[in-house]
Amino acid sequence: MEGDSEIAQILLPPHAMAKGGNDVIYAWLARYQAAKSRGEDVVNGTIGALLDDDGELILNPIVGQVLNELTDVDKGAYSPLPGLPEFRETAQKLAIGPKLQQLRNLGLETEAVASPGGCGALYLSARNLLSSSDSILVRSTYWGPYKTIAEECGLNLVDWPLVSESSNDNSVVDRTILSDRIKSLVSSQGRILAWLNDPAHNPTGMSLNAQERAEVLTCFVDAAKQNPEAGFTLLLDTAYALYANEPHGWTDTVIEFIDDWPSNLLLCWAFSASKSHTIYGLRCGALVMAHPSREFVDRMVPMLVHTGRGTWSGSPRMPQAMVSTIHNSGELEPSWDAIRGGLSEMLVQRRRLLLDAGKGLPFDPSHDGYFAHISDPNPVELCEAIAERGVYVVPLSKGVRIGVCSLPTNKAARAGEAIADAWRSLGRSED
Ligand SMILES: Cc1ncc(COP(=O)(O)O)c(C=O)c1O
Repeated sequence: MEGDSEIAQILLPPHAMAKGGNDVIYAWLARYQAAKSRGEDVVNGTIGALLDDDGELILNPIVGQVLNELTDVDKGAYSPLPGLPEFRETAQKLAIGPKLQQLRNLGLETEAVASPGGCGALYLSARNLLSSSDSILVRSTYWGPYKTIAEECGLNLVDWPLVSESSNDNSVVDRTILSDRIKSLVSSQGRILAWLNDPAHNPTGMSLNAQERAEVLTCFVDAAKQNPEAGFTLLLDTAYALYANEPHGWTDTVIEFIDDWPSNLLLCWAFSASKSHTIYGLRCGALVMAHPSREFVDRMVPMLVHTGRGTWSGSPRMPQAMVSTIHNSGELEPSWDAIRGGLSEMLVQRRRLLLDAGKGLPFDPSHDGYFAHISDPNPVELCEAIAERGVYVVPLSKGVRIGVCSLPTNKAARAGEAIADAWRSLGRSED
């Protein structure tokens, strides 16, 4: 009998052999849990889900109630392949916001296809808006699975800076580098697909302001006008938007540009209900599209359904039915929203406590959502030093991610102090 690695080589082709799981978050969660079970006084900042101040997972109770009351058909039947019609409309309302009708009246046609979470929507875009071996344009710090999705689709990533290093204006957007990247992708592949995780970026919590959004959109609109033979898709990954101060700021920005919208520019949203409705495991999302041509957005639907059919078949029906029931009810929607608003407030409070206690540390810009991030040349070393102080956070490739969503409010300041203390103990220099 051959050894395990020889068997793997016989059974697995090289492209599959190269794949590996990403269990760093679970590994650090397990360390927190082990320390807790030893009776140590420890703080959990590892998880990417909302936990209450006792460390229990939060399920919005309106969501729980509506799920329990669904009909047997909604519990057990398949969903239509593009998604339940009422869910497809609701997903557009939630992604684009209260100005959806205004956006349509001003000339953008919109559509949506259900997907298993925002991740499914990202996958649909990767599969259909580029050719294999092309590159997706992302920012320099991004959610790790972006790379995994790209690899699964035979694509690469090209990045532009999350935060501009040029100090001559007060914007985080480096327009020169963004435009250069777009230009070089236009000449190398003729089509651009950009994923922009905003507002409430994972892992930093950064949100672009109105001026910065307009700067980004200007780069895309200008490039689209200058290159009418090239195709441009700007996809907004809004997974955490409903916990941001401006959940639908992008819609306001888009409205400013609508009059002169180039037909070779498609705008998409990767809508996710995972965080907004606290249903991470139910796999509910949609790819939402906006473009001046009705014919074009209609044409996208069977194409995206084909990818879904050949990958996950249909999307789960139960969460779609639940989300559309809530948002088509004059009673349920405000109750759901009041709870969502309270959770948002809790995140604001935890973030403030964490950042105040860690004043002076080089946190990346951090405004909204589930996370905060501190860039560091040796994230594992820093996490070890933080863990020595009883606080567990996660080392990513460029720094340390703090799950504001999982920190108990009364321990958020202690987490900030532990990070500051660990950071100084390692001789890191102040900004
Ligand atoms: C940046 C970002 N985008 C998209 C998603 C998609 O989440 P889901 O597929 O659960 O909707 C996540 C989830 O963690 C995320 O962090």
